[in-house]
Amino acid sequence: MSHKIKIAPSLLAADFGMLAQEIANVEAAGADLLHVDVMDGNYVPNISFGPVVIEAIAKHATIPLDIHLMIENPDRYLNEFAKFKPKYLVVHAEATNHLHRTLQAIHDLGIQAGVALNPGTPLSAIEEVLPYVDLLLLMSVNPGFGGQSFIPETYNKIERAKQMIIYQGTKTKIQVDGGINKETAKQCIEHGADILVAGSSVFGADDYTNAIGILKE
Ligand code: DX5
Ligand code: ZN
Repeated sequence: MSHKIKIAPSLLAADFGMLAQEIANVEAAGADLLHVDVMDGNYVPNISFGPVVIEAIAKHATIPLDIHLMIENPDRYLNEFAKFKPKYLVVHAEATNHLHRTLQAIHDLGIQAGVALNPGTPLSAIEEVLPYVDLLLLMSVNPGFGGQSFIPETYNKIERAKQMIIYQGTKTKIQVDGGINKETAKQCIEHGADILVAGSSVFGADDYTNAIGILKE
């Protein structure tokens, strides 16, 4: 492995009754970013949490937040989420009519911009805006729920995304989200991923340090 992989535990799988403790625990265990899944019950079938809860998360976090917006027409809320000064604000390419404008709006707020692509969305959806994409989030499950199985076609997609990034000469980082465990993590890294999101494989483990360590190996 030539590059250093970063792990972003997804708080969706944390125990919400003791969120501050869960955050402290994954931070101590070696997490690089905190992945925050916002679901609106419209763009995805599930509802998770919004700004009120993220305010509490931001208060306790000492590592950067990575906010994954699974919401329809995210432009309406960019301001609201930018207040928490996340490292990345990630929108779904399928959720906005004017992706280029949305990315500009995120940058205007002084935040790095991310674009997520569903398993069924081709890479060509971001080809024209890649210079404005700081983080490309490849969904390896259909968004909405934790604990699903990794869709294996994602490996090839990571590789093609990497080629597109090299070809266009951008600094875009590749993040993979969904079904990340010991086996799938290894392959994602081999295919060119930079950041792995992991929910159940971290928060479902007895020992978070061990769980994150295994994914980074
Ligand atoms: C799914 C979310 C993921 C999810 C990952 O819609 O975007 O971040 O929490 O959970 P696991 O790692 O359990 O697949
Ligand atoms: Zn996510």
